[in-house]
Amino acid sequence: MWNFPLLPDIGSTGAYENDLVFWLETAIVVSLTFFGFALMAFLVYRYHRGQKVDRSHPPHHNYNLEYVLMAGMLAVGVMLFMVGAVVFYRLSVPPDNALEMYVVGKQWMWKVEHPGGKSEINELHVPLGQPVKLMMTSQDVIHSFYVPAFRVKQDVLPGRYTHMWFQPSKPGRYHLFCAEYCGTSHSNMIGWVTVMEPAEYDAWLSQGGRGPSMAEQGEQLFVQYHCAGCHRGSQTVRAPHLEGVYGKSVPLQRGNEVYFTMADERYIRDSILMPKNEVVAGYEPLMPSFQGQINESDLLKIIAYIKSIGNKEATP
Ligand code: CUA
Repeated sequence: MWNFPLLPDIGSTGAYENDLVFWLETAIVVSLTFFGFALMAFLVYRYHRGQKVDRSHPPHHNYNLEYVLMAGMLAVGVMLFMVGAVVFYRLSVPPDNALEMYVVGKQWMWKVEHPGGKSEINELHVPLGQPVKLMMTSQDVIHSFYVPAFRVKQDVLPGRYTHMWFQPSKPGRYHLFCAEYCGTSHSNMIGWVTVMEPAEYDAWLSQGGRGPSMAEQGEQLFVQYHCAGCHRGSQTVRAPHLEGVYGKSVPLQRGNEVYFTMADERYIRDSILMPKNEVVAGYEPLMPSFQGQINESDLLKIIAYIKSIGNKEATP
């Protein structure tokens, strides 16, 4: 039987748009190439040496033809840019209701953490029809999270968070690859994304009982690493409380200058690992760095905890 698919399965809503751009560009390139060669063949035939044609006044230029060509090329270029920009924009901005999951890449495996506390290796289970946002980082070198069926690929970098999102549109098992050469066993850094019906997914989540959620584990770590000693309770003189911080603008101080930054995952992470870089206005740079002491997975849990108290009032 004829089975030679040009493109992988389609497993996400965004895949259609992506393929549309791909086929549109391919169609334009192929038709231009075809047109060019057809014209060449015609001219070779029409004007080869044996043909009796008038060669006395060869034309040097044709402005009208050049105007049409320039305008046509410009129109095609702008159209392609607009189509690409729309799809790229949608790919870059996850919807607000996206389910957030966390991915840590390391030589040579993918570790996935679900907000409910469940974690898995080289597997990612997601519910059908629900937008899923992945927050990703690497524990060592650059990796790249690639799910061909969803038409998504994003580099996963050490020392920062990158994200991507997709909305699964068909139940099934789909390949997951690392698409950035990352060392000896790069080719083994593969896995599966499983798209399940929502009810099935809930059942899968509660398999083996529900342990503490990521935020709850993060709170334990928050106490264990003695963050709570200064960022909680009555010690407000030394360190700011963290309730209500996530997602807000924070005043920072450098010398006499006060500026603002958004308290997102990047900010929380840098504040833990490089606390002297961005000091909250009105506080002294007293906090020690936790660089090298907390692994990526635990950092994500602490961030999940600080996010979970993002809408709370500080308790004195
Ligand atoms: Cu990780 Cu290639």
